[in-house]
Amino acid sequence: MKPNLLVARPIFEEVLARLREHFNVTDNQADHAWTLDEWKAQLSQHAGALTTGADPINKDVLAVCPQLKAVANMAVGFNNFDVPAMTAHGVQASNTPDVLTETTADFGFALLMATARRLTESEHFLRRGEWKQWRYDMFAGAEVHGSTLGILGMGRIGQGIAKRGAHGFGMKVIYHNRSRLSAAQEAECKARYVSKEELLRSADHVVLVLPYSAESHHAMGAAELAQMKPTATLVNIARGGIVDDAALAQALRNRTIAAAGLDVFEGEPKVHPDLLTVPNVVLTPHIASASIATRMAMANLAADNLISFFTQGRAITPLNTLGA
Ligand code: GLV
Repeated sequence: MKPNLLVARPIFEEVLARLREHFNVTDNQADHAWTLDEWKAQLSQHAGALTTGADPINKDVLAVCPQLKAVANMAVGFNNFDVPAMTAHGVQASNTPDVLTETTADFGFALLMATARRLTESEHFLRRGEWKQWRYDMFAGAEVHGSTLGILGMGRIGQGIAKRGAHGFGMKVIYHNRSRLSAAQEAECKARYVSKEELLRSADHVVLVLPYSAESHHAMGAAELAQMKPTATLVNIARGGIVDDAALAQALRNRTIAAAGLDVFEGEPKVHPDLLTVPNVVLTPHIASASIATRMAMANLAADNLISFFTQGRAITPLNTLGA
């Protein structure tokens, strides 16, 4: 008998068709937003699930899902998972690393450029019909090429952004991370390891690519924003909650920093109302990995993780190791 699989959110029809060859699939193409109770009720009937970063798998959920054996997150970030609790419940957890690295780094760079060069602010001005004449300082922004790029969190995506900056734009790259890269990796990224304080103090552009955890909660709060240059930009493509959004809105309003580009938000899809009213911020709805090819690769890898687990006992990109 095929195992029951819950696909929590809409997904490519081709991927659903592949999954149906191996599972009895309950899908959510209608994109009905389940409440937590509905989510738990649905999940409790299934042995596997394909989730997105917004679907929680924690102790509370696991307590009502004794049949659950594997959950594949269609995301590289997995702060929606309590991995130790999943391991304790014998549930295989997996995510989708690597397939989205370059696409997400592309987007990080796009957001940096849009923010520094005031792309959306100037477009809104044009659309409002306010463009009457050329002016020397109209939407003059910050230089990107040759400036100092500070990357907080130097995993695969951070390294992708560093390479773009160093090799494509002649930027001086500095980074801070829990662990230092090898000398070979630093040379490849042309990146210099510095303390967080030095990074905040000297970067013209600060890009956040660190995973969300209790330790990284509000890693960029009022105190950290105050250490940045008043001409600097901040880009967050990591996770909401790493930046204190209220403090950021205030820093943007007071011009403590020049501008910010945000793809992720505390409590998204809600956005702090103050961020919606400050002009010097570029806002996008969590789309850093959203090229069609990459989203397809992520969906296929999540599906492969489930197929591999249920046919061979192990996911391809697991986040935990289950006991015998
Ligand atoms: C998206 O945010 C991801 O973690 O893949």
